[in-house]
Amino acid sequence: MENTEKEKHWEKVYQTKNFTEVGWYQKIPTLSLSFFEEMEIPKNAQVLDVGGGDSYLVDHLLELGYTDLHVLDISGKAIEKAQVRLGENASKVSWIQSDVLQFEPQVKFDVWHDRAAFHFILDQEEIEKYAQIAHKCLSENGLMFIGTFSDTGPTHCSGLPVTQYSIEKLTQVFSLYFQKINCFHTDHITPSGVKQHYTFCSFRKIGK
Ligand SMILES: C[S@@+](CC[C@H](N)C(=O)[O-])C[C@H]1O[C@@H](n2cnc3c(N)ncnc32)[C@H](O)[C@@H]1O
Repeated sequence: MENTEKEKHWEKVYQTKNFTEVGWYQKIPTLSLSFFEEMEIPKNAQVLDVGGGDSYLVDHLLELGYTDLHVLDISGKAIEKAQVRLGENASKVSWIQSDVLQFEPQVKFDVWHDRAAFHFILDQEEIEKYAQIAHKCLSENGLMFIGTFSDTGPTHCSGLPVTQYSIEKLTQVFSLYFQKINCFHTDHITPSGVKQHYTFCSFRKIGK
């Protein structure tokens, strides 16, 4: 899928659907928040939520006292919706409208978070590029927390095909650049009651 097509697709999704109507909706991103707690991520860590959309993760992290939050998404409409929801607090977050595969950050991040965005990348070279970009964007010992549909999960999301990942496959994709910390499977229940099987992994960056 061409970049502009991708962008158009996601703009349309966010223009036509409310957050609570989309399959990935979760009121409280419990697993992501547990990662921050378990890894004892400091409140001044530079955190990037990749494909953050209008997820509530940023609201919760702000409430917990995180001060250096960045949300990247290909959809400007998603970012706008999150900003409107956050009101005055939106100015405490840095917002980046970009395809993650084109992302060239000016700063290094301590945490790379991605729930349900990476799995839309289908092309093997682009999958590898994503891993390289994540590695390049993170500071030394930087952490990644990533969630995708599992190998027994859905094959599509939001009308687009996805790459499914077993724990082994997800670990393998990042193995050149990241050391596995922990992986697990979980079921997400969509607002319409459908069970979706996910794979989640946390990784630590290898090298500089
Ligand atoms: C399934 S939604 C998940 C949103 C959010 N992470 C959550 O858990 O609620 C996927 C998100 O990834 C974004 N996205 C898809 N492909 C992307 C890309 N190549 N670069 C940046 N964002 C992308 C979409 O616009 C959308 O907001």
